[in-house]
Amino acid sequence: MSKVISGFSKLTKEEKIQWLTRNFFNNEDQVHTTIRQYWNSDEALQQLHDDFIENTITNFYMPYGIAPNFIINGKEHVIPMVVEESSVVAAASLVAKFWSTRGGFKTRVISTTKIGQVHFMYEGDKAELQQYFETQKPQLLEATAPITKNMEKRGGGIQSITLVDKTASLPNYYQLHVTFETVDSMGANFINSCLEAMAKQFRKDDIEIVMSILSNYVPDCVVRSEVSCKVADLGGDDPEKFARKFEQAVKIAEIEPYRAVTHNKGIMNGIDAVVLATGNDFRAIEAGAHAYASKSGQYSSLTHCEIKDGIFTFWIEIPLALGTVGGLTALHPMAKLSLDMMGKPSARELMEIMATAGLAQNFAALRALTTKGIQHGHMKMHLMNILNQLGATAQEKENISKQFENQTVSHSAVVEAFHKLRS
Ligand code: MEV
Repeated sequence: MSKVISGFSKLTKEEKIQWLTRNFFNNEDQVHTTIRQYWNSDEALQQLHDDFIENTITNFYMPYGIAPNFIINGKEHVIPMVVEESSVVAAASLVAKFWSTRGGFKTRVISTTKIGQVHFMYEGDKAELQQYFETQKPQLLEATAPITKNMEKRGGGIQSITLVDKTASLPNYYQLHVTFETVDSMGANFINSCLEAMAKQFRKDDIEIVMSILSNYVPDCVVRSEVSCKVADLGGDDPEKFARKFEQAVKIAEIEPYRAVTHNKGIMNGIDAVVLATGNDFRAIEAGAHAYASKSGQYSSLTHCEIKDGIFTFWIEIPLALGTVGGLTALHPMAKLSLDMMGKPSARELMEIMATAGLAQNFAALRALTTKGIQHGHMKMHLMNILNQLGATAQEKENISKQFENQTVSHSAVVEAFHKLRS
Protein backbone atom coordinates (compact mmCIF):
# COMPACT_ATOMS: atom_id res chain seq x y z
CA MET A 1 0.00 0.00 0.00
CA SER A 2 1.30 3.46 -0.88
CA LYS A 3 2.57 5.60 1.96
CA VAL A 4 2.03 8.84 0.04
CA ILE A 5 -0.48 10.92 1.98
CA SER A 6 -2.48 14.07 1.22
CA GLY A 7 -3.43 16.64 3.83
CA PHE A 8 -0.86 15.32 6.33
CA SER A 9 -0.25 18.74 7.84
CA LYS A 10 -3.94 18.98 8.76
CA LEU A 11 -3.81 15.88 10.99
CA THR A 12 -3.45 16.38 14.73
CA LYS A 13 -0.11 15.67 16.34
CA GLU A 14 -1.49 12.40 17.71
CA GLU A 15 -2.76 11.36 14.27
CA LYS A 16 0.59 12.17 12.70
CA ILE A 17 2.39 9.96 15.20
CA GLN A 18 -0.08 7.15 14.62
CA TRP A 19 0.39 7.42 10.85
CA LEU A 20 4.17 7.40 11.30
CA THR A 21 4.34 4.41 13.61
CA ARG A 22 1.80 2.41 11.62
CA ASN A 23 3.67 2.92 8.36
CA PHE A 24 7.33 3.01 9.33
CA PHE A 25 7.82 1.06 12.58
CA ASN A 26 7.12 -2.42 13.87
CA ASN A 27 7.18 -1.66 17.56
CA GLU A 28 4.54 1.07 17.76
CA ASP A 29 4.37 1.22 21.57
CA GLN A 30 8.10 1.68 21.99
CA VAL A 31 8.15 4.49 19.41
CA HIS A 32 5.19 6.22 21.06
CA THR A 33 6.99 6.08 24.40
CA THR A 34 10.20 7.55 22.97
CA ILE A 35 8.40 10.34 21.18
CA ARG A 36 6.37 11.27 24.28
CA GLN A 37 9.39 11.12 26.56
CA TYR A 38 10.71 14.21 24.82
CA TRP A 39 7.54 16.28 25.06
CA ASN A 40 7.68 19.13 27.49
CA SER A 41 5.24 18.82 30.38
CA ASP A 42 4.59 22.57 30.15
CA GLU A 43 1.97 22.59 27.41
CA ALA A 44 2.45 26.24 26.47
CA LEU A 45 6.19 25.72 26.07
CA GLN A 46 5.60 22.62 23.98
CA GLN A 47 3.14 24.52 21.81
CA LEU A 48 5.76 27.23 21.25
CA HIS A 49 8.20 24.63 19.96
CA ASP A 50 5.53 22.86 17.93
CA ASP A 51 4.83 26.11 16.13
CA PHE A 52 8.43 26.82 15.07
CA ILE A 53 8.10 24.36 12.17
CA GLU A 54 5.48 22.21 10.47
CA ASN A 55 4.56 18.64 11.40
CA THR A 56 6.34 18.74 14.77
CA ILE A 57 5.89 15.48 16.65
CA THR A 58 8.41 15.92 19.45
CA ASN A 59 11.66 17.68 20.45
CA PHE A 60 15.24 16.67 19.81
CA TYR A 61 17.56 17.48 22.73
CA MET A 62 21.06 18.79 22.26
CA PRO A 63 23.37 19.42 25.19
CA TYR A 64 23.58 23.07 26.28
CA GLY A 65 26.95 23.77 27.92
CA ILE A 66 28.73 26.89 29.06
CA ALA A 67 32.36 27.86 28.59
CA PRO A 68 33.62 30.26 31.26
CA ASN A 69 36.82 32.32 31.52
CA PHE A 70 36.65 34.25 28.24
CA ILE A 71 38.18 37.72 28.46
CA ILE A 72 37.17 39.68 25.37
CA ASN A 73 38.40 43.26 25.07
CA GLY A 74 38.99 43.26 28.81
CA LYS A 75 35.47 42.09 29.68
CA GLU A 76 34.73 38.71 31.30
CA HIS A 77 32.32 36.47 29.42
CA VAL A 78 30.74 33.07 29.78
CA ILE A 79 29.79 31.62 26.39
CA PRO A 80 26.79 29.31 25.91
CA MET A 81 27.35 26.41 23.51
CA VAL A 82 24.89 23.92 22.02
CA VAL A 83 26.86 21.03 20.57
CA GLU A 84 26.80 17.25 20.57
CA GLU A 85 30.53 16.70 20.04
CA SER A 86 32.32 15.87 23.28
CA SER A 87 35.35 17.98 24.21
CA VAL A 88 34.26 21.14 22.31
CA VAL A 89 33.08 22.95 25.46
CA ALA A 90 35.97 21.65 27.54
CA ALA A 91 38.45 22.81 24.89
CA ALA A 92 36.85 26.27 24.72
CA SER A 93 36.98 26.67 28.51
CA LEU A 94 40.59 25.53 28.77
CA VAL A 95 41.78 27.82 25.99
CA ALA A 96 39.79 30.74 27.41
CA LYS A 97 41.53 30.22 30.76
CA PHE A 98 44.91 29.94 29.05
CA TRP A 99 44.50 33.27 27.26
CA SER A 100 42.88 34.96 30.27
CA THR A 101 46.34 35.21 31.83
CA ARG A 102 47.91 36.38 28.57
CA GLY A 103 45.88 39.48 27.79
CA GLY A 104 42.67 37.76 26.64
CA PHE A 105 41.10 38.11 23.21
CA LYS A 106 41.11 41.39 21.28
CA THR A 107 38.31 41.80 18.78
CA ARG A 108 37.16 44.31 16.19
CA VAL A 109 34.20 44.43 13.83
CA ILE A 110 35.60 45.29 10.40
CA SER A 111 32.32 45.76 8.50
CA THR A 112 28.59 45.01 8.82
CA THR A 113 27.11 45.29 5.34
CA LYS A 114 24.79 42.62 3.95
CA ILE A 115 23.87 41.90 0.35
CA GLY A 116 20.71 41.14 -1.58
CA GLN A 117 20.10 40.83 -5.31
CA VAL A 118 17.29 41.04 -7.82
CA HIS A 119 18.28 38.70 -10.65
CA PHE A 120 16.78 39.48 -14.03
CA MET A 121 17.05 38.90 -17.77
CA TYR A 122 17.13 41.68 -20.35
CA GLU A 123 17.81 41.26 -24.06
CA GLY A 124 17.75 44.91 -25.16
CA ASP A 125 20.26 47.73 -25.39
CA LYS A 126 22.48 48.04 -22.31
CA ALA A 127 22.65 51.86 -22.39
CA GLU A 128 18.85 51.97 -22.38
CA LEU A 129 18.72 49.68 -19.37
CA GLN A 130 21.27 51.83 -17.57
CA GLN A 131 19.15 54.90 -18.33
CA TYR A 132 15.99 53.15 -17.10
CA PHE A 133 17.80 52.11 -13.90
CA GLU A 134 18.98 55.68 -13.21
CA THR A 135 15.48 57.10 -13.63
CA GLN A 136 13.95 54.29 -11.57
CA LYS A 137 16.40 54.46 -8.66
CA PRO A 138 14.43 57.03 -6.57
CA GLN A 139 11.24 55.00 -7.13
CA LEU A 140 12.99 51.80 -6.10
CA LEU A 141 13.89 53.42 -2.81
CA GLU A 142 10.41 54.86 -2.48
CA ALA A 143 8.87 51.43 -3.03
CA THR A 144 10.80 50.14 -0.03
CA ALA A 145 10.05 53.15 2.22
CA PRO A 146 7.28 51.46 4.26
CA ILE A 147 9.65 48.57 4.97
CA THR A 148 12.78 50.61 5.68
CA LYS A 149 11.09 53.21 7.90
CA ASN A 150 11.63 51.36 11.19
CA MET A 151 15.03 50.06 10.23
CA GLU A 152 16.19 53.59 9.44
CA LYS A 153 15.08 54.70 12.90
CA ARG A 154 17.45 52.06 14.31
CA GLY A 155 20.31 53.32 12.13
CA GLY A 156 20.00 50.80 9.30
CA GLY A 157 18.47 50.62 5.85
CA ILE A 158 19.49 50.43 2.22
CA GLN A 159 23.00 51.71 1.59
CA SER A 160 23.31 51.41 -2.17
CA ILE A 161 21.72 49.95 -5.30
CA THR A 162 23.80 49.23 -8.37
CA LEU A 163 23.03 47.71 -11.72
CA VAL A 164 25.44 44.87 -12.48
CA ASP A 165 26.01 43.49 -15.96
CA LYS A 166 26.65 39.74 -15.77
CA THR A 167 26.10 39.06 -19.47
CA ALA A 168 29.72 38.00 -19.98
CA SER A 169 29.03 34.97 -17.75
CA LEU A 170 25.40 34.30 -18.69
CA PRO A 171 23.66 35.82 -21.75
CA ASN A 172 21.13 38.59 -20.89
CA TYR A 173 21.73 38.28 -17.13
CA TYR A 174 21.78 41.43 -15.00
CA GLN A 175 21.32 42.18 -11.31
CA LEU A 176 20.22 44.89 -9.01
CA HIS A 177 22.90 44.50 -6.37
CA VAL A 178 21.75 46.03 -3.11
CA THR A 179 23.71 46.62 0.10
CA PHE A 180 21.97 46.78 3.48
CA GLU A 181 22.73 47.65 7.08
CA THR A 182 20.43 45.69 9.36
CA VAL A 183 21.94 46.74 12.74
CA ASP A 184 20.97 44.16 15.42
CA SER A 185 18.72 41.99 13.31
CA MET A 186 19.97 39.28 11.00
CA GLY A 187 17.72 41.00 8.52
CA ALA A 188 16.75 38.15 6.19
CA ASN A 189 13.06 39.07 6.12
CA PHE A 190 13.83 42.76 5.87
CA ILE A 191 16.24 42.29 2.97
CA ASN A 192 13.97 39.89 1.07
CA SER A 193 10.95 42.16 1.51
CA CYS A 194 12.91 45.18 0.23
CA LEU A 195 14.15 43.21 -2.77
CA GLU A 196 10.67 41.98 -3.67
CA ALA A 197 9.30 45.51 -3.42
CA MET A 198 12.08 46.73 -5.73
CA ALA A 199 11.51 43.92 -8.20
CA LYS A 200 7.83 44.84 -8.38
CA GLN A 201 8.77 48.44 -9.13
CA PHE A 202 11.45 47.52 -11.68
CA ARG A 203 8.92 46.38 -14.27
CA LYS A 204 9.37 46.86 -17.97
CA ASP A 205 8.17 44.77 -20.94
CA ASP A 206 11.68 43.63 -21.83
CA ILE A 207 12.78 42.89 -18.24
CA GLU A 208 12.10 39.43 -16.86
CA ILE A 209 12.63 39.18 -13.11
CA VAL A 210 13.96 35.72 -12.25
CA MET A 211 14.18 36.03 -8.46
CA SER A 212 14.87 38.33 -5.54
CA ILE A 213 16.84 37.02 -2.57
CA LEU A 214 19.46 37.95 -0.01
CA SER A 215 22.95 36.49 -0.31
CA ASN A 216 24.49 34.49 2.49
CA TYR A 217 27.88 35.46 1.12
CA VAL A 218 28.71 38.46 3.30
CA PRO A 219 32.37 39.35 2.74
CA ASP A 220 31.61 42.84 4.07
CA CYS A 221 30.15 41.69 7.36
CA VAL A 222 33.43 40.62 8.90
CA VAL A 223 34.87 40.43 12.41
CA ARG A 224 38.38 39.83 13.67
CA SER A 225 39.45 38.20 16.92
CA GLU A 226 43.05 37.90 17.99
CA VAL A 227 45.31 36.58 20.73
CA SER A 228 48.91 37.58 21.17
CA CYS A 229 51.75 37.12 23.65
CA LYS A 230 55.50 36.70 23.87
CA VAL A 231 56.55 33.30 22.53
CA ALA A 232 58.31 32.66 25.84
CA ASP A 233 54.99 33.17 27.67
CA LEU A 234 53.28 30.36 25.76
CA GLY A 235 54.51 27.99 28.46
CA GLY A 236 55.22 24.26 28.18
CA ASP A 237 58.63 22.59 27.89
CA ASP A 238 59.67 24.29 24.69
CA PRO A 239 57.54 27.35 23.79
CA GLU A 240 59.66 28.20 20.71
CA LYS A 241 59.10 24.76 19.25
CA PHE A 242 55.42 24.89 20.12
CA ALA A 243 54.98 28.29 18.44
CA ARG A 244 56.89 27.17 15.34
CA LYS A 245 54.90 23.97 14.89
CA PHE A 246 51.65 25.81 15.55
CA GLU A 247 52.50 28.40 12.89
CA GLN A 248 53.41 25.62 10.46
CA ALA A 249 50.04 23.96 11.08
CA VAL A 250 48.26 27.22 10.21
CA LYS A 251 50.41 27.76 7.11
CA ILE A 252 49.56 24.23 5.94
CA ALA A 253 45.85 25.03 6.27
CA GLU A 254 46.42 28.24 4.31
CA ILE A 255 47.78 26.43 1.26
CA GLU A 256 46.30 22.89 1.43
CA PRO A 257 42.53 22.68 0.89
CA TYR A 258 42.20 19.12 2.27
CA ARG A 259 43.65 20.32 5.56
CA ALA A 260 41.89 23.71 5.40
CA VAL A 261 38.43 22.11 5.36
CA THR A 262 39.11 20.14 8.55
CA HIS A 263 40.89 23.11 10.13
CA ASN A 264 37.86 25.31 9.44
CA LYS A 265 35.49 22.56 10.56
CA GLY A 266 37.18 22.76 13.94
CA ILE A 267 36.63 26.54 13.98
CA MET A 268 32.95 25.99 13.16
CA ASN A 269 32.70 23.53 16.09
CA GLY A 270 32.96 26.61 18.30
CA ILE A 271 31.04 29.05 16.16
CA ASP A 272 28.05 26.83 15.33
CA ALA A 273 27.64 25.96 19.00
CA VAL A 274 27.14 29.65 19.86
CA VAL A 275 25.03 30.23 16.74
CA LEU A 276 22.67 27.47 17.90
CA ALA A 277 22.64 28.64 21.52
CA THR A 278 21.59 32.12 20.41
CA GLY A 279 18.92 30.98 17.93
CA ASN A 280 20.83 32.20 14.90
CA ASP A 281 20.88 30.56 11.48
CA PHE A 282 23.76 28.07 11.42
CA ARG A 283 23.25 27.15 7.75
CA ALA A 284 23.66 30.78 6.76
CA ILE A 285 26.77 31.16 8.92
CA GLU A 286 28.31 27.95 7.58
CA ALA A 287 27.62 28.83 3.94
CA GLY A 288 29.01 32.35 4.38
CA ALA A 289 32.12 31.22 6.25
CA HIS A 290 33.13 28.59 3.70
CA ALA A 291 32.47 30.94 0.77
CA TYR A 292 34.72 33.50 2.48
CA ALA A 293 37.38 30.83 2.97
CA SER A 294 37.39 30.43 -0.83
CA LYS A 295 37.49 34.12 -1.70
CA SER A 296 40.98 33.93 -3.22
CA GLY A 297 39.81 31.19 -5.60
CA GLN A 298 41.31 28.46 -3.43
CA TYR A 299 39.73 27.20 -0.22
CA SER A 300 41.95 28.29 2.65
CA SER A 301 42.23 28.73 6.41
CA LEU A 302 40.03 31.23 8.22
CA THR A 303 42.72 31.73 10.86
CA HIS A 304 46.26 33.03 10.52
CA CYS A 305 49.39 33.05 12.63
CA GLU A 306 52.52 35.12 12.79
CA ILE A 307 55.66 34.99 14.89
CA LYS A 308 57.54 38.26 14.70
CA ASP A 309 60.12 39.80 17.03
CA GLY A 310 59.43 37.11 19.61
CA ILE A 311 55.67 37.77 19.62
CA PHE A 312 53.16 35.04 18.76
CA THR A 313 49.95 36.34 17.18
CA PHE A 314 47.02 34.18 16.13
CA TRP A 315 43.84 35.59 14.62
CA ILE A 316 40.64 34.88 12.74
CA GLU A 317 38.72 36.98 10.24
CA ILE A 318 35.28 35.63 9.48
CA PRO A 319 32.00 36.92 8.09
CA LEU A 320 29.15 36.53 10.59
CA ALA A 321 25.67 37.80 9.70
CA LEU A 322 23.92 37.59 13.06
CA GLY A 323 20.90 38.88 14.88
CA THR A 324 20.34 39.63 18.55
CA VAL A 325 16.80 40.87 18.03
CA GLY A 326 13.92 39.31 16.11
CA GLY A 327 13.56 35.80 14.73
CA LEU A 328 14.18 32.88 17.05
CA THR A 329 16.32 35.08 19.33
CA ALA A 330 13.10 36.64 20.60
CA LEU A 331 10.99 33.49 20.57
CA HIS A 332 13.12 30.72 22.00
CA PRO A 333 13.47 31.03 25.79
CA MET A 334 16.90 29.39 25.71
CA ALA A 335 18.14 31.73 22.98
CA LYS A 336 17.02 34.63 25.15
CA LEU A 337 18.80 33.11 28.16
CA SER A 338 21.98 32.79 26.10
CA LEU A 339 21.87 36.43 25.09
CA ASP A 340 21.11 37.54 28.65
CA MET A 341 24.07 35.48 29.89
CA MET A 342 26.36 37.39 27.55
CA GLY A 343 25.00 40.75 28.71
CA LYS A 344 22.42 41.24 25.93
CA PRO A 345 25.03 41.88 23.24
CA SER A 346 24.43 43.93 20.12
CA ALA A 347 24.87 42.02 16.86
CA ARG A 348 28.35 43.54 16.58
CA GLU A 349 29.28 42.31 20.08
CA LEU A 350 27.89 38.87 19.32
CA MET A 351 30.04 38.76 16.16
CA GLU A 352 33.07 39.41 18.39
CA ILE A 353 32.10 36.73 20.91
CA MET A 354 31.42 34.13 18.23
CA ALA A 355 34.63 34.77 16.32
CA THR A 356 36.45 34.36 19.63
CA ALA A 357 34.74 31.00 20.26
CA GLY A 358 35.93 29.90 16.81
CA LEU A 359 39.48 31.09 17.38
CA ALA A 360 39.62 29.39 20.79
CA GLN A 361 38.41 26.13 19.29
CA ASN A 362 41.01 26.29 16.54
CA PHE A 363 43.75 27.05 19.09
CA ALA A 364 42.70 24.00 21.11
CA ALA A 365 42.67 21.74 18.06
CA LEU A 366 46.05 22.91 16.74
CA ARG A 367 47.63 22.73 20.20
CA ALA A 368 46.48 19.13 20.54
CA LEU A 369 47.36 18.17 16.96
CA THR A 370 50.89 19.59 17.11
CA THR A 371 51.69 18.17 20.55
CA LYS A 372 49.94 15.07 22.01
CA GLY A 373 47.80 14.35 18.96
CA ILE A 374 44.03 14.64 18.79
CA GLN A 375 43.27 11.09 19.89
CA HIS A 376 44.71 11.58 23.35
CA GLY A 377 41.77 13.72 24.49
CA HIS A 378 39.22 11.90 22.36
CA MET A 379 40.27 8.53 23.70
CA LYS A 380 39.84 9.69 27.29
CA MET A 381 36.23 10.50 26.41
CA HIS A 382 35.86 7.21 24.54
CA LEU A 383 37.16 5.33 27.57
CA MET A 384 34.65 7.09 29.85
CA ASN A 385 31.80 6.33 27.46
CA ILE A 386 32.67 2.62 27.42
CA LEU A 387 33.01 2.51 31.20
CA ASN A 388 29.66 4.26 31.60
CA GLN A 389 28.05 1.74 29.27
CA LEU A 390 29.52 -1.07 31.37
CA GLY A 391 28.14 0.53 34.52
CA ALA A 392 31.56 0.99 36.13
CA THR A 393 31.72 2.58 39.58
CA ALA A 394 33.75 5.75 40.25
CA GLN A 395 36.50 3.63 41.81
CA GLU A 396 36.56 1.25 38.85
CA LYS A 397 36.71 4.19 36.44
CA GLU A 398 39.69 5.67 38.25
CA ASN A 399 41.45 2.34 38.33
CA ILE A 400 40.95 1.57 34.65
CA SER A 401 41.72 5.16 33.53
CA LYS A 402 45.12 4.78 35.23
CA GLN A 403 45.72 1.51 33.38
CA PHE A 404 44.99 3.19 30.05
CA GLU A 405 47.20 6.23 30.57
CA ASN A 406 49.87 4.61 28.43
CA GLN A 407 47.81 2.02 26.60
CA THR A 408 45.73 2.41 23.42
CA VAL A 409 42.01 2.55 24.16
CA SER A 410 39.92 0.04 22.22
CA HIS A 411 36.47 -1.25 23.09
CA SER A 412 37.62 -4.84 23.56
CA ALA A 413 40.67 -3.86 25.65
CA VAL A 414 38.50 -1.78 28.00
CA VAL A 415 35.87 -4.51 28.35
CA GLU A 416 38.62 -7.04 29.12
CA ALA A 417 40.21 -4.77 31.72
CA PHE A 418 36.81 -4.16 33.30
CA HIS A 419 35.95 -7.86 33.61
CA LYS A 420 39.42 -8.66 34.90
CA LEU A 421 39.04 -6.01 37.58
CA ARG A 422 35.62 -7.25 38.63
CA SER A 423 36.73 -10.89 38.77
C1 MEV B 1 37.11 17.69 15.09
O1 MEV B 1 35.74 17.92 15.26
C2 MEV B 1 37.82 18.95 14.71
C3 MEV B 1 39.29 18.80 14.37
O2 MEV B 1 39.46 17.79 13.37
C4 MEV B 1 39.76 20.13 13.86
C5 MEV B 1 41.16 20.13 13.27
O3 MEV B 1 41.62 19.10 12.77
O4 MEV B 1 41.76 21.22 13.28
C6 MEV B 1 40.10 18.34 15.56
